[in-house]
Amino acid sequence: MDLRLKGKRCLVTGGASGIGLATAKMLIDEGCHVVLWDQSGNVREIAARLLAENEVAIPDPFTKNCKVEIKGEVVDVADEARVQQAAKELGERWGILDHLVHCAAVGSRRFGFPFTNLKPEDWVRPMHVNVMGMVHVAHAIAPTMMASKSGSMIFVGSVAGQIGSQTDPPYSASKAATINFAQCLAKDLAPFGVRVNTVCPGMVQTNLNRHVWESWCETVPPEDRITYEQWAQSKIDSVVPLKRWQTSEDIASMIVFLSSDRAAQVTGQTINVDGGYVMHW
Ligand SMILES: NC(=O)c1ccc[n+]([C@@H]2O[C@H](COP(=O)([O-])OP(=O)(O)OC[C@H]3O[C@@H](n4cnc5c(N)ncnc54)[C@H](O)[C@@H]3O)[C@@H](O)[C@H]2O)c1
Repeated sequence: MDLRLKGKRCLVTGGASGIGLATAKMLIDEGCHVVLWDQSGNVREIAARLLAENEVAIPDPFTKNCKVEIKGEVVDVADEARVQQAAKELGERWGILDHLVHCAAVGSRRFGFPFTNLKPEDWVRPMHVNVMGMVHVAHAIAPTMMASKSGSMIFVGSVAGQIGSQTDPPYSASKAATINFAQCLAKDLAPFGVRVNTVCPGMVQTNLNRHVWESWCETVPPEDRITYEQWAQSKIDSVVPLKRWQTSEDIASMIVFLSSDRAAQVTGQTINVDGGYVMHW
C-alpha cells in the first residue's frame, strides 16, 4: 500500500531511541523529511547517521545529497521555552508541519508496587516530562497545523495508562493523562482538519522498559533476581495473548499508518499495539 507520505514534513520527539527512532526510520523510508527532538545530546549524531544511510548518488538541490531532510535537535520537552524556540525554528525552516509523533517520556525509575514504595516527590519528574511535555509540544505545534488546516498528531501512550499498572503508578497516571488530553485535542482540532490519535504499546525492549526491571531488581534480594529477559517473558506469558514482545517497528508501523491519509477518517482513537493485552477502553 502506498501511504502517500513522500515529501511530508514530520517531527518526532524522543527520536533518539527506541520507538521514536524506529518511527523516524520508517517515515524516512516512506520519503518523509524528519526532524528529531530529544533531550539526549546524541540526537544530532543519530540524525547525521540517518542522513548518511540515506545518501543518494544524484543530489537534490533542496536536500543536497540525501533524498530527504533529516535533522536532530536537543530539546527537553519539559522545558516550555526551549520547545517554543525549537518550534519557531521549525516553522521558519519548513513553514508547515504535516505530522507530529510525540514519543518522549520517562518512568519514575522506582518500583511502585505497592505505591507506598514511592514518595510523592517521585511523581514530579514523570508527571512533568510526560504530561507537561505533551502540553508544551501541543501548544507549540497546534497553531501551525490549525493555520494550514491540515496535519496529524500521534501521541504515544501506554497500556499502563488504561489499567492502573502497579509497577509505576506515576508513569501509569501520566499515560492516562496522555490518552485523555489527546481526546480533547482531537475534538478541538477536528474543525481545522487536524487528526489526533494515541498509540499504546504493550511491552517493547527499550531503555525505558529495561529501567522498570532495574527498579524491580532493587526491591528483591540478589538471590531472587532474574534476568531482564526472564522477567519480561514471565509477564508476557501470563498476560499477553499473542505471547510475544512487541518490537519498536510494530509500534512504528501503526504510528506511520495512522499519520498517513490512509487513516483520514481516524481521529480521537486510542489504538493498542500490545499483542491483545488490553481488550477494552
Ligand atoms: N517500551 C515499552 O515497553 C513501552 C510501553 C508502553 C509505552 N511506551 C512509550 O513509548 C514511548 C517511547 O519510549 P521507548 O520505550 O522507545 O523508550 P526509550 O527510552 O528508548 O525512548 C524514549 C526517548 O525519549 C527521550 N526523552 C526522555 N525524556 C525526554 C525529554 N524530557 N525531552 C525530550 N526527550 C526525552 C529519551 O532520551 C529517549 O530517547 C514513550 O512514550 C513510552 O512511554 C513504551
